Amino acid sequence: MNAQALMDTARVLVAGDRGLLAMDESNPTCNKRFARLGIVQTAESRRAYREMIVTTPGLGECISGAILFDETIRQQTTDGTPFVEVLSDAGVIPGIKVDTGAAEMAGHPGEKITEGLDGLRDRLAEYYCMGARFAKWRAVIAVGEGVPGRACVEANAHALARYAALCQECGFVPVVEPEVLMDGGHTLERCSDVTGLVLHSVFTQLFLQGVMLEGIILKPNMVLPGLLCPAQPGVDEAADATVKCLLRSVPAAVPGIAFLSGGQSAELASARLNAMNATFGSRLPWALAFSFARAIQGPALEIWEGKESNVPAAQKALYHRAMCNRAARRGEYDAAIERMSA
Ligand code: 13P
Repeated sequence: MNAQALMDTARVLVAGDRGLLAMDESNPTCNKRFARLGIVQTAESRRAYREMIVTTPGLGECISGAILFDETIRQQTTDGTPFVEVLSDAGVIPGIKVDTGAAEMAGHPGEKITEGLDGLRDRLAEYYCMGARFAKWRAVIAVGEGVPGRACVEANAHALARYAALCQECGFVPVVEPEVLMDGGHTLERCSDVTGLVLHSVFTQLFLQGVMLEGIILKPNMVLPGLLCPAQPGVDEAADATVKCLLRSVPAAVPGIAFLSGGQSAELASARLNAMNATFGSRLPWALAFSFARAIQGPALEIWEGKESNVPAAQKALYHRAMCNRAARRGEYDAAIERMSA
């Protein structure tokens, strides 16, 4: 393990005001999003969509790293340039999703365990040769009556830590993603309790597995109530709850926290990240950044519609969301920036 190289990569990923772009939807998830918009669901269609994203003019101004899926890291632009090369030339570090998805957890109805540890060392070696320098693994924690249970929290934390240790051995910065879902009607307080519990379990396991915290990025959910909860917080309340929970559970050695968007609207995700940075920014031990998929890609996908003629407009929409989140990292996002046409 080259500790210095890992620390350097982790720092670059969260330096300044840039953040991560998650474009690692699995084929079934990508197809589901295409189907909803009537877009044809083929490997070529997914390739064309990802080409639109990686060739967005100015992408590297706002995006430090892009998380790819196994199919995508092997694909090229129409002119034959590998996506990894296009990203690197734009100053964007290529990353790779390495979990193989969340499966029903045996004996625990309604809970999931993320799989993908078998053969991971060999897969990482191949991705390293392809140019990837960081990786992602997502654990999924549902909130409900009696859920999550200890078995689900600890099994997922253990898997995340084993993945993270393998990543560092193979020269990858692990993006450690324990996602507490927004599905359901639970309150903000309940999300805070569950997120705190999960993060404590994750950092205990990272410690046990000997993971170097200076060489990871944490990718958590923001602390928010379930989407069906009648009491939805204001932007500042959500920002305060999130920072309070993280201060209690994330060691200062972690260089950066890059939030997932989790089904929030693109505007709310930007506003909440902005509030955290505007209120607490310089007083926090870690950088607060973004690693959004839907909250960056959403508007662009709707404009693209699978048509070549829509590529320039879709790229403008993608750049606009990336630029809004870049402003949110500085605590400078506001209605005027949101209205600014790309
Ligand atoms: P969302 O921002 O759409 O939640 O996706 C982030 C992600 O990478 C999920 O693993």
